Amino acid sequence: MRSEVGTTVKLSNYAPAAYLVPAIDLTFRLDPKRTIVRAVMQVRPNLGTPPGTELVFDGDGVEMLDLKLNGEPIEAKTSPDELRIENVPHEAFTLEIETAIDPEANLALSGLYRSNGVYCTQCEAEGFRRITYFPDRPDVLSVYSVRIEALADQAPVLLSNGNPGESGALEAGWHFAEWHDPWPKPSYLFALVGGDIVGSFDTFTTMSGRTVDLGVYVERGKEDRTGWAVDSLKRSMKWDEETFGREYDLDVFNIVAVSDFNMGAMENKGLNIFNDKYILADPQTATDVDYANIETIIAHEYFHNWTGNRITCRDWFQLCLKEGLTVYRDHEFSADMRSRPVTRIAEVRTLKVAQFPEDAGPLAHPVRPTSYREINNFYTATVYEKGSEVIRMLRIVIGEKAFQSGMALYFDRHDGDAATIEDFLTCFEEASGRSLSQFALWYHQAGTPQVTAQTAYDEQAQTLTLTLEQSTPPTPEQNEKEPVHIPISFALFGAGGEELAVPNQSEAVRDNVIHLTDREMTIEFQEMENRPVLSLLRGFSAPINLNFDQPIEDRIFLARHEGDLYTRWQALDRLATDAIISSYRDSGGEQLASGTDALLDLYGEMAADERLDTAWRALALSLPNETTLVREIERNANPDAIHKARETFFHAITSRHGEAFGILYESLVSNEPYSPDPQSAGRRALELALLDYCTMAENSGERAKKLFDEADNMTERAGTLEVLMLRRPASQETAAARATFEERYGSNPLIMDKLLGMVAKIPGSDAPERVRAAMTHPNYVETNPNRVRALIGSFAAGNPTGFHQPDGTGYRLLAEVIGRVATRNPQLAARMATHFRSWKGMDSTRREAAHQTLLELRKTSGLPLDVRDILDRTLS
Ligand code: ARG
Ligand code: ZN
Repeated sequence: MRSEVGTTVKLSNYAPAAYLVPAIDLTFRLDPKRTIVRAVMQVRPNLGTPPGTELVFDGDGVEMLDLKLNGEPIEAKTSPDELRIENVPHEAFTLEIETAIDPEANLALSGLYRSNGVYCTQCEAEGFRRITYFPDRPDVLSVYSVRIEALADQAPVLLSNGNPGESGALEAGWHFAEWHDPWPKPSYLFALVGGDIVGSFDTFTTMSGRTVDLGVYVERGKEDRTGWAVDSLKRSMKWDEETFGREYDLDVFNIVAVSDFNMGAMENKGLNIFNDKYILADPQTATDVDYANIETIIAHEYFHNWTGNRITCRDWFQLCLKEGLTVYRDHEFSADMRSRPVTRIAEVRTLKVAQFPEDAGPLAHPVRPTSYREINNFYTATVYEKGSEVIRMLRIVIGEKAFQSGMALYFDRHDGDAATIEDFLTCFEEASGRSLSQFALWYHQAGTPQVTAQTAYDEQAQTLTLTLEQSTPPTPEQNEKEPVHIPISFALFGAGGEELAVPNQSEAVRDNVIHLTDREMTIEFQEMENRPVLSLLRGFSAPINLNFDQPIEDRIFLARHEGDLYTRWQALDRLATDAIISSYRDSGGEQLASGTDALLDLYGEMAADERLDTAWRALALSLPNETTLVREIERNANPDAIHKARETFFHAITSRHGEAFGILYESLVSNEPYSPDPQSAGRRALELALLDYCTMAENSGERAKKLFDEADNMTERAGTLEVLMLRRPASQETAAARATFEERYGSNPLIMDKLLGMVAKIPGSDAPERVRAAMTHPNYVETNPNRVRALIGSFAAGNPTGFHQPDGTGYRLLAEVIGRVATRNPQLAARMATHFRSWKGMDSTRREAAHQTLLELRKTSGLPLDVRDILDRTLS
């Protein structure tokens, strides 16, 4: 086992591997408790490795059974976490290593483990060393040949990376299958699956006319829920060909869904392994949101085949090279499959709920970090989501043409490489002929830049002057920040709502984008006969906090007339956020902020405007998230008062529009059979958003219960139940609906997770008790990450009043779970521990309670490094 304190790995200490492994043959003899792994590796010293250099391979808890060099037994220093051989030849040689591992005892779900009787692997980031000794780092690329042996009845299906080879029966009920992957890959992309799983098959013909066999495997009995995954996969493959010219490169592409998985999914070459939550779908069991998530995660993992696998990372500091870029690609895919503005709204909401708080707290780190103690703690919203935003900005900064040729150059030049962010940026510098040295700060500086904007209109001179000022707050280990290159998309509107043409002024103000590169900048718009309305940060062109003291009338105007639907939503969201925060500040949320009349009217208008996409209207009606509101408060936040302020605002909309919303709601209820397409999903989203308001307006759960009873699909069943549980937790309708739901779906854990999530989110002081009660439910199995995330994750991240109880009961509940989970599954426990990240922004009572809880938790003996790292940083 690795040490508890760990060592800090630094980017500045990067050195190439001393020994490379161009090829590896692996033989697995699968056994639940004692799997034997035989590895035959072709090893050679790297260029520049001096003769006599000791060979050091990584291990993690593996038992060495046999070791031979060029066929001869050899002396070595072996411990469970390292293999050291002093005298190796200074030329190519063969190393044979036999190890034993225990898949069933592997509850960390890293390396080779068993999930519901299915053998599977998760090797990213450092799981391969839990299988055999190896230079387990992404810049060591090998060609893998794999032979799997297993009892035929226990594991009739045997899969690994690449293309299938021989397979057949062996003695005593055993059988085998061989796989060969011709593409050299790092060990983190290795995968193996063995189990009684069932495949759904299809084919895809690539742009050059090759046929690829597709398989989506699930646990027996779930095979009729794979259709959407197969469909999403085919659309992803087509899209990557059409959009980026990327073709798939093996004869088969397999996906396996398992029920115990630490993350969403994993892009192992030719054998993606998924959390089954992101594969299984049919109208009866999955919601519209599930359908959308499956589509985007399938795309994400598939797109990794080029951005991640064909071009991989030199070291783990470059994680964003594959993750940020691949998130960007899956966002683009979703935008093309669905409505672009609607997907953009969802992206920005996620960014603000998950990444902005991270960037504003003790866990803030650059998109490309320079040091880590535990790499698994850097699979963060910053690396993924901000990493994607940076690419999005790059496209704006250098323009469409240069961006496309930069991507083409990157694919061409670095195919087969383990590359760096510098390699990536150089391609775009060459393609655009511009220096990106300032732009690169987005990768190196942590913290969300703050931009303050001010305008002044001079009637006489007919000019509008805009002053911009940027600064980035200090973050851990980075006090001083340089100004960054911020592309601010903008438009000017005339009084009639028409967009005014803005001539290019300079390099810095062109094509309706302001390139803010200095700390301060002043721009003058001339020949403005009337004061125009300025729309700033259109499309959320940069991940910044914009502090623009814009008159409310102007924002209302934009919420009505902005032609870009994302930005129209942004104006509305800003208005609502400001109104709620004013109410919080002025009256502790008891009273509505003054001057909200026009805004309240707007909600009625948008809900009813049939020219607008229904999905967009649903988003317009959903108020700013409490977590985002808490972050906007920044200091001394009182989540109870924030909740109250949001409720007060919700009530105000309800009392103004309740009746109209009821009528509108009825017009949307439809008895057409379920279809997951974006239009139908939009209709349901609007229907459920309206139902939420009606339930409050009518002070009755009748409408919700009626739809619950009549619905033919999970979206409306779960949606109505959630309205009931959150709005009317104590009502009869709620109890009845919940009982029906449990009875009908009690045997489907993924659906029960939805219920756990609802229970966790019911606000108020009794939330911790309610969550504690749910923990005793037989469905809550703490070794399964999905259960823990559904109940504990939803509670800590989605229920600010419950989690941040002033007496600390919510904090202690989370700490208890972390303590229990930590010994079994360090990664999951560490992930749960990140929910403490905003503790410093709370009021003093809560802050003190959180502080005590964190100190207590840190005293737990035997805490794994993963958790310790998060706690140390959270407390620093
Ligand atoms: N590369 C995977 C993805 O696309 C994430 C896997 C990370 N797993 C881990 N244990 N850190 O997004
Ligand atoms: Zn990824």
